[in-house]
Amino acid sequence: MCQSAAGQESNSGKKIAVITGGARGIGRAIAQRHADEGARVVIADSRGDEARETASAIGRNAVGVDQSRNQWVRAMAKFVADEVEAADILVSGAAICSMGRLAEISEDQFDRQFNINVRGLVFASQAISGQMVAAGKGGKIMNSSSQAGSGRGASRRLLRHQGRRHQHHAKQGARGCAAG
Ligand SMILES: NC(=O)c1ccc[n+]([C@@H]2O[C@H](COP(=O)([O-])OP(=O)(O)OC[C@H]3O[C@@H](n4cnc5c(N)ncnc54)[C@H](O)[C@@H]3O)[C@@H](O)[C@H]2O)c1
Repeated sequence: MCQSAAGQESNSGKKIAVITGGARGIGRAIAQRHADEGARVVIADSRGDEARETASAIGRNAVGVDQSRNQWVRAMAKFVADEVEAADILVSGAAICSMGRLAEISEDQFDRQFNINVRGLVFASQAISGQMVAAGKGGKIMNSSSQAGSGRGASRRLLRHQGRRHQHHAKQGARGCAAG
């Protein structure tokens, strides 16, 4: 789960790794792994206080960002370039898992899930890849989704069975964008 690009790419251990959703959960584990391998990690998360706690625990930077809002995503990328250094690695881990039934899901819930998990993932990639290109040093982008979007597996069957197709579609969307 916590595959690290820092270890693959860098012998110097000075890669700049931006981890969205890095304040907790899977994103935090990915951030820890990158820090362990010597990367300078920036935790970019909507839970600002938790992001700072995590960043402090692993000795790196934090920045508050709501990935569903492009203005915030661009500000986050600017913070990284101006206050740290142009990123070498982006891991898009920020996501929510809205599990309401199809019959009950509201437009707001649907839009929020897609705005964070799909749209936000695309614009975070755009903002960070832009600074990678501008710095002329290349980079790696890793987007995460779920087996629920793979068209296989028990979790996907569960989502279909329970009528939670919007969750499946959001995960499929993220997988499609990650592959593109
Ligand atoms: N936990 C699992 O077993 C599991 C398994 C497969 C897939 N997933 C998927 O992986 C993703 C992460 O799972 P997790 O368990 O680590 O979740 P989590 O809730 O523990 O962590 C998600 C992180 O994303 C951040 N975040 C949420 N919305 C944000 C936004 N708008 N902008 C910036 N940051 C935001 C949260 O603050 C949090 O730190 C989810 O999409 C989940 O569906 C989880």
